Amino acid sequence: MSGPDKPQSTNRLQSRAAQSEPAQGRNDRAAWFQGSSAECSDALRPSGLPWRLVLLGAPGVGKGTQAYLLNQRLRACHLSTGDLFRAASKLGECDRSPAMQAAMDYMRRGELVPDTTVWEMVRERSACIRCAGGFVLDGFPRTLGQAELLKQLMESEKIPLSAVVNYELPLAEIVDRLSGRRTCEKCKAVYHITGQPSKVEGMCDHCGGRLFQREDDLPESIKVRMEAYERSTAPLIEFYQSQRALLTIAATGTPDEICARTISALVARAGTVAIA
Ligand code: AP5
Repeated sequence: MSGPDKPQSTNRLQSRAAQSEPAQGRNDRAAWFQGSSAECSDALRPSGLPWRLVLLGAPGVGKGTQAYLLNQRLRACHLSTGDLFRAASKLGECDRSPAMQAAMDYMRRGELVPDTTVWEMVRERSACIRCAGGFVLDGFPRTLGQAELLKQLMESEKIPLSAVVNYELPLAEIVDRLSGRRTCEKCKAVYHITGQPSKVEGMCDHCGGRLFQREDDLPESIKVRMEAYERSTAPLIEFYQSQRALLTIAATGTPDEICARTISALVARAGTVAIA
């Protein structure tokens, strides 16, 4: 969405990845970002059963935006593999493993990181999957191989998946969302040049950090990402449909509207929902 149609309420989304900002329903995700040796300082607990959700959808459909809102409402932790790789890319070159260095190159081109590298990182963080607060997985699984590995992990731990939410949006709107996205280099807050602009052009409202355009949001990488999605990730829709886990949600309208639509569908599916 662009221009004046964008409601002001979406500005709240800008702090979705602001690590230092305390906000209702989020935690610091230390265990996710730093690995199994780290402990989250303020692990959240839902008031009812934990939600364990997977978000599916094309690049730019708004998964990260919805994961932030669902974290606020359902208290389940937002676990994004894309955020994890981007955080690792900030490490010095000596601190990056060869596999991580290769992952950076795949990301830059818009290609998927190989399953072995992704799984190595997720498996090392399996405590986040077992966490009593639940999770909202954003960007994982992304291939049938990854989905099988997640299924095996959850079955071996006897952890049920609550639902897989598949967001759908027309391609033209997706491309607009991606090409207008700007991200704060310090706190990772997300803006959109027309739909969700910062108060001062190029500067983050929260921390004053510089806003940049992700390398994989440039036209040539967007094309590669869309192809990778169609080839590797879209088949997951059928995979989860066959397991009766899939909820398809229209990603049109404001982020708050989409979140409300998602929670209504989850409520209808589960009968009850623990909302903070
Ligand atoms: P990742 O970071 O997961 O990227 P993605 O899936 O391409 O998703 P995006 O972050 O681009 O978009 P989004 O759907 O979260 O949308 P957002 O909420 O930001 O992965 C990046 C790369 O890492 C991959 O290409 C791959 O290389 C690698 N990778 C990661 N996981 C992997 C895995 N499991 N296996 C292999 N490789 C992996 O919104 C987009 C824009 O739209 C923003 O500007 C936002 O402000 C705006 N917006 C959001 N909602 C709305 C709305 N309702 N109305 C108007 N504007 C909106």
